[in-house]
Parts: sequence; structure tokens; C-alpha cells
Amino acid sequence: MFRKKPIAVALSAVLVLALSLVGCGAKPAATGGEKEVEPIIVKFSHVVTPDTPKGKGALKFKELAEQKTNGKVKVEVYPSSQLYGDKEELEAAQSGNVHIIAPSVTKLVGLNPKFQYTDLPFLFPDNEAVYKFFASDSMKGLMNSLDKFDLQGLAVWPNGFKQFTNSKRPLVTPEDFNGLKFRTQAGKVLEAQFKALGAGSATIPFGETYAALQQGTVDGQENTYNNIDTQKYQETQKYLTVTNHGRIDYMIIVNKSFWAGLAPDIRKALDEAMAEATTYAVEQADLLDRESMKNLKDGGKLQFTELTPAQLGVFQKAMQPVYTEFESVIGKDLIDAAFAAGQK
Ligand code: LMR
Repeated sequence: MFRKKPIAVALSAVLVLALSLVGCGAKPAATGGEKEVEPIIVKFSHVVTPDTPKGKGALKFKELAEQKTNGKVKVEVYPSSQLYGDKEELEAAQSGNVHIIAPSVTKLVGLNPKFQYTDLPFLFPDNEAVYKFFASDSMKGLMNSLDKFDLQGLAVWPNGFKQFTNSKRPLVTPEDFNGLKFRTQAGKVLEAQFKALGAGSATIPFGETYAALQQGTVDGQENTYNNIDTQKYQETQKYLTVTNHGRIDYMIIVNKSFWAGLAPDIRKALDEAMAEATTYAVEQADLLDRESMKNLKDGGKLQFTELTPAQLGVFQKAMQPVYTEFESVIGKDLIDAAFAAGQK
């Protein structure tokens, strides 16, 4: 009788094993007998906590994107600078290591200094003006300016107006800033703003700001109620002055080549998911801004200083030199468009 040689037995066993392993990678689906396709992974990285407008918007996008593509896309959301912080996220998006990021627009200063419009003191009177500006041609122009970096702006999400906090004293007049040092997000406009108030400043990544405040590297910072609340800055700060002098809003940015390389039906579904997530993020921004203001007031750790219109006017005048210095950088047309959005 013919008998296989031991070596032939071993080889056929390896072949069977190899075939079964190949089979594992492309299992027939339970129902239609189609091959299971690995989902497209979309990594969305941001620096704030999941319970912020941006954090919630990112999770809403995940939910809608996965639902609208029937699971063909899986969105992985990485909050709190887990994957990339301020310093690395732009480069990671350009190189395609992460697909979506949502930096505060001023952090795009290195790509286009006009994004610092958002830091011009008292540029917008209220949210309505800000949202009008988001929908303007000027904002479209800013978005398009990212193209050459292989980045694409998909949407703008709001957070809110900034307030000053510090650990030393109540800030009632510009003179009270004298000699204090504040953390800034990025860029020269913010540096000039603090200089106009007689204060020093240092750019510190968001993920390192709590420690910088705690260790006294800086005395204060400026942020939205919700960022102050969710980062627990009230544990390191004693005073908050309500000024609403500047904004924190986000550009939702994708890697352009990645986005262009998606199948049209997938991209359409993701665009729809982004549009719906944007509506949700706007609602959340308004809601969470009010909630966090209340939390901070009720928490009793921060002493609130509310200014009269006349006192705010003194700040506005003191910060006016920032406009003179940066008009040519940001562009008069863009500044005028922002002012126009605030006209009733
Ligand atoms: C900051 O750095 O303070 C903010 O831009 C953080 C954020 O993403 O809201």
C-alpha cells in the first residue's frame, strides 16, 4: 500500500493550516455569503475632555458616521491629547497618522496667520455674530487656505467666549494685569494682547496648562467657562473676570488626500454625519457654556468679577493697539467682515 512519507504529511499539514488561516481573514458573512470587509478606520484626535462641546461633537460624529455607513467606517475618537497634543497634531494630520483633528483656529497660525482674527479683542459682540462669520466667504477663504498643506477644513465648531482667570488678584482694570504672566494658546496676537495690558505671556500646550498653573509657571490663563470647568482650573486659580474678550472656536480638519481617496458614497455619508454633528456641537456649546458658568459660580472656588460697560470700555481701549499692530497680518477685509457679522 502507498504510504505518504513523513515530510509529505508535514507539508500537507502546513498547507491545510495556511489555507485555514487565509480563510480567517476573509470569512463569508453570516448571511449573504459576501466576504467580510475590514472597516475603514478614521482616527479623530482632540485635546479636550469628552464632556465638552468638541468632545461631544466628536462622539456624535462617530455615532452618525458608523450608522450612515452601516459600519463600513469605524471612527476612533482620542480625547484629552491622548494621541496627539497641540504641538504634534497638525503634523500628524498632514502626514496622515491621524485623519481628523479639531484645533482651536488660532493654533493654525503657523499655516495661515489670518486665523488669529479670533484673538482680536472684542471682535464679536455675541454668538450670533460669530456663527454668521462662520458662514461667511471670509471663513470659506480661511478654510481653502489649508488646501496647500494637504488639509481640508470640513466645518467650524464653536466653544465660546474667553474669560480671564488668575491666582493673584481680582482683575478689575488693565493695571491689575501688571506683572502677571498668562498662558496663551499660540501666536503673536495673544502675546500682544497681554503686552497691551502690561502682562507677560507664554505659549503652553493645552495638555500642560493645568500643571503650569498649579506649579506657578504662569499666574493665569484665558479660556471659556467650559474649558475652565472641565480642566478644573478652579483648583489652581482664585479669580475670574467676565470679559468675553475673545473666542475659542475650532476648525474641523481632515487629511485631504485621505478624504479624497474615500469612495464617493462613503464620503457623502461622512459629510452628512459631519453636518449633523456640527448642528449638535453648536447646541452643546451654548448649553455647556451656561452650565459651566453656573458650576464655576456655584462651586465657590473662583471669585467672579463682573465689569460694568464702562469698565469693559477701558479694557477695549487698552487693547486697541493690537488692531493697529495686526491689521496688515490678518487683513482689513477679514476684520471688516467680522465686524459686519456683529452689526444688527
Ligand atoms: C486651549 O488651548 O486653551 C484650547 O484651544 C483648547 C481647546 O481645544 O478648546
